[in-house]
Amino acid sequence: MKVQFTETVLRDANQSLIATRLPYERFEAILETMDRAGYYSLECWGGATFDSCLRYLNEDPWERLRKIRAKCPNTKLQMLLRGQNLLGYKHYPDDVVRMFVKKSVKNGIDIIRIFDALNDVRNIAVAVDETVKNGAIASGAISYTKSPIHNLEAYVKLAKEMENMGCQSICIKDMAGIMGPQEAYDTVKALKENVSVPIVLHTHSTTGLGMLTLQKAVEAGCDVIDTAISSFSGGTSQAPTETMAYALKQEGYEVDLNMDVLKEINDFFKPVKEEFLEAGKLNPVVLSTDTDALNYQVPGGMLSNLVAQLTAQNKMDQFPAVLAETPRVRKDLGYPPLVTPMSQMVGVQATANVLAGERYKNVSKEVKAYIRGEYGKAPGEIDPALQKKVLGDEQPITCRFADTLEPGFEKAKAEIGDKAKSDEDVLSYIAFPAQAEAFFDKRDEQKKNTFTYSIKRID
Ligand code: CO
Repeated sequence: MKVQFTETVLRDANQSLIATRLPYERFEAILETMDRAGYYSLECWGGATFDSCLRYLNEDPWERLRKIRAKCPNTKLQMLLRGQNLLGYKHYPDDVVRMFVKKSVKNGIDIIRIFDALNDVRNIAVAVDETVKNGAIASGAISYTKSPIHNLEAYVKLAKEMENMGCQSICIKDMAGIMGPQEAYDTVKALKENVSVPIVLHTHSTTGLGMLTLQKAVEAGCDVIDTAISSFSGGTSQAPTETMAYALKQEGYEVDLNMDVLKEINDFFKPVKEEFLEAGKLNPVVLSTDTDALNYQVPGGMLSNLVAQLTAQNKMDQFPAVLAETPRVRKDLGYPPLVTPMSQMVGVQATANVLAGERYKNVSKEVKAYIRGEYGKAPGEIDPALQKKVLGDEQPITCRFADTLEPGFEKAKAEIGDKAKSDEDVLSYIAFPAQAEAFFDKRDEQKKNTFTYSIKRID
C-alpha cells in the first residue's frame, strides 16, 4: 500500500513555530530541491501566509506564489482556505470568493484545502465549486473535534456531503492536535468504508501523539499524511517527514520520497531554525511536548489564552472555575469545534461568566453574532434559554450568511483605485485592507526610487 506526504514547512510549520515570519528569500534556494523530493504536495500558501506577507514581510503574496510555482513545476502546490471566510474570519460575498479561488489557481495553486470552523458545508460550497470549475483539486476538510454529538456517524455524513459536492479528497483536520491514535484509526476506517475519494490526515504534535496518530491512520488506509521536514517538526508543528517516511518504508508501505533529497532539504532548514532561535523568534517552548490538552480536553493554544486572560486580570485563582465553565459554555453553544475563532469566543465567555459571578450577564458581540447564526449553523442545538436571552424576540438567521451580502469585488476595486495594479491586488485589499494599502504605498515608493536610480545610471 502506498502512503503519500504533504510537506508543511512553508505553511503550517512556518505558521505554528515561527508565526509565519519566513521570508521568500530565505527559502528560495531550496525550492528546486523540494521539487525533486517526491511529495504528494507542498503546502505553501493560504492560512496566515497571506496576511504575514503583507503585514510583516513587505511581500506581495501573489508574487510569492508565482515564484514558488516557477521553481516547483513538478510538485502540486497546496493552499489552505477557510471557505466563505477565505483567509480571515468574516464572511465574504460569493463574487469575492469565486474571484479569489480563480486567481489562486491561475497563479499556481493545484490543491485547495477548504474548511469551515463549524463544519457548515454551505460555507465551503462556493469555494469547492469554483475550485473544481478552474480545474484544481478541491479537498474538503473536516474540522475535527470531540463532543457528544461529534461521532463517527456525523463525520461520515459530512464526508459524504463533501464528496457529493465535488471534493476530490477528504481531509481530517485536527488543527488542535487532540486526536489520539485509536480515534484516527476509527475515523479513517469509517471514512474509507463510506467514501471513495482519498483520505488525508492533518494533525499536530503538540501533545506528543502526532506520530502515533499518523501511524494508526495509515494502518486504517489513510492515503496522504501531513508532515514537516524534521528541523521544523514537533511541538505545535507536524510530525517529522523523514521519521515517518523511514518508519513506514520499514513496515513495507510504498513511499515515493527520496531520502537523500529529504536530507538536503533538512540540512538547508537547520540553520534557518537556528537563526530564528537565536533571534528569539522561535520560542523553544513550542517545540516541546505539552500534554495539558489531554487532561483538559481543550486545545493547547486555548489553555494559554485562558491563562493569559486571567493573569492580566490578576485572577489566576479562578482558573479551575473557568476550566470547569468552558465545556458548559461550549455545550450551551451547540458544541462548536474549539478552533479559531470559536475557541477564543468560548474561552472569553467562560471567563466572563466566572468573573461576573453570573452566567451570561455579559455576552460578547461575537457570541451574539454566533447565536444569531452569522457564522453558520451550530453543530448541535444552542441552549433555548440562552438564545432567548440574547435574541429576545428576534429570529436567528437560517439562510447562509453570505446570501445576505451584496457583491463586493467591483466596489472594492473602485474604492482602492489606482493603488491596485491588478485584480490580485484588489483581492489583497479585500482580505486585509489596511495592510494591503500600506504595502501598495511602499511598493509605489520603491518604484519611484528605482526610477530615479536608473536615471542616475544613464549619467
Ligand atoms: Co494545522
